Amino acid sequence: SRGPGAPADLAGRHVVISAGGTREPLDPVRFLGNRSSGRQGYALARTAAARGARVTLVAANSELPEPAGVDVLRVGTATQLRDAVRDAATDADAVVMAAAVADFRPAEYASGKIKKREGEEQAPITLRKNPDILAEISENRDNSRQIVVGFAAETDDALVNGRAKLARKGCDLLVVNEVGEHKTFGSDESEAVILDSDGTVTPVPFGPKEALADTLWDLVIRRFS
Ligand code: CTP
Ligand code: CA
Repeated sequence: SRGPGAPADLAGRHVVISAGGTREPLDPVRFLGNRSSGRQGYALARTAAARGARVTLVAANSELPEPAGVDVLRVGTATQLRDAVRDAATDADAVVMAAAVADFRPAEYASGKIKKREGEEQAPITLRKNPDILAEISENRDNSRQIVVGFAAETDDALVNGRAKLARKGCDLLVVNEVGEHKTFGSDESEAVILDSDGTVTPVPFGPKEALADTLWDLVIRRFS
């Protein structure tokens, strides 16, 4: 991070960041979840606060310590995350979706523990698609000057898939992480490429998630002016 001497170049701005991974309950003892630790989103919150922003961090199931000077809203499911981000976004200058959102949720929540059935090889579970929060936020901006940022983890053809995803989501910037074995999840370091809808490509070399966060804020600020 740029530390205490950071320029206050986000002063007067409100930024909303989602972090962590959503969990979709199946029954009282089980959920569908993912491995996101929340580290990238928390690094974004810390760096934005250090640069003078008012920060709302919508944290899904993260155990990381709450950054000082940041409003933290805790959520569990994708639906809760959508409601919290939507509310916070109404007066936001930038919305950054760093959370790993479950693509599907159980169609129904079972109030009692789901049981196996004799002779049934198929799981007694039906999944439904969750809303695409990033696409919704991008599309429903009241304020056309609001900057919307997504993240994507890709295993193959990161740039090609990233470019297509940026267009599909309608966001301004997309941070594309190439994931593989030890890369990105639960790590303090990552390597990425940031795609701008104007065609600009900004490679971010392997390094701390805070450095990636600061590079992203530089690009967001460039878009403000
Ligand atoms: N995202 C979202 N709502 C969802 C799914 C994803 O807001 N229901 C956001 C993520 O927070 C991330 C971006 O969309 O910023 C890209 O997520 P990703 O999982 O890569 O995109 P998907 O559209 O779900 O595509 P895929 O089929 O590759 O998983
Ligand atoms: Ca997905």
